[in-house]
Amino acid sequence: MTRAAPIIEIRDLLKTFGAVVAAKDINIDISRGEIVGIIGANGAGKTCFVNMVTGYLSPTSGSITFEGVELVGKGPREVTHAGISRSFQVSQVFHSMTVAENLRIALAIAENRGVNALRIMESDALEAKCNDVLKRYKLEDYRDMTVSVLSQGIRKLLDIAMAVVSEPRILLLDEPTSGISVEEKFDFMDVVMGALKEDNVTVLFVEHDMEIVERYVSRVLAFYQGEIIADMSPDKALADDKVQEFVIGKRH
Ligand SMILES: Nc1ncnc2c1ncn2[C@@H]1O[C@H](COP(=O)(O)OP(=O)(O)OP(=O)(O)O)[C@@H](O)[C@H]1O
Ligand SMILES: [Mg+2]
Repeated sequence: MTRAAPIIEIRDLLKTFGAVVAAKDINIDISRGEIVGIIGANGAGKTCFVNMVTGYLSPTSGSITFEGVELVGKGPREVTHAGISRSFQVSQVFHSMTVAENLRIALAIAENRGVNALRIMESDALEAKCNDVLKRYKLEDYRDMTVSVLSQGIRKLLDIAMAVVSEPRILLLDEPTSGISVEEKFDFMDVVMGALKEDNVTVLFVEHDMEIVERYVSRVLAFYQGEIIADMSPDKALADDKVQEFVIGKRH
């Protein structure tokens, strides 16, 4: 049996800020459809890693090859256009607008119509797409509500829905469950992961909550001082001595 080529190959990634080493010796291949959990104590380098893969930060050296295309040197827009999308540690939705308005803007931007974006916002095709996303992310009941009145869980669902309108093959999420209540977190993740799996999106997400890691990921990457100290299944990772010492033990 021949193995499919990895969707993304990362080689010898290094990022330094003066004396601070934010990433070092990062070498990983990720296959299509994998759900990867990125864990690590505060300052371990998780966000820097996400920023490098998504074009927000240039590595000091190394390469990131996505579907055979080198990403290093490309900016965020080009990376999104290539098929990699993301959400941020702090959600990027417009709080004074409704859920549907936010989605229409994201869709108009994804359609890349530039100055025609506002006109596109009115189109039937866009409305149909908007309704489809609202349905898949269980946001229909909130469509005409202003974001500022919604719970953090619903806001984050919208944030992720806005990141997937460009139909990415890889999605990176920086702490998707942060700020979400204990009662909401599993329902939230069920909706997100269910929708992403349906589209066979490869997902990499930063997560501090080990219950979420255990339940939703197929593979764990544990970061410590910019290096990957464990790359294994979640059950193995959570029992690993180094992960126990440098990730779980050191949390806050
Ligand atoms: N723009 C920057 N300039 C200088 N140092 C930076 C910069 N961005 C990040 N760093 C440093 O790089 C290291 C990794 O930071 P990063 O934000 O990736 O951590 P993290 O694992 O996401 O932490 P957290 O769990 O707190 O979000 C830290 O030491 C941080 O202070
Ligand atoms: Mg971070």
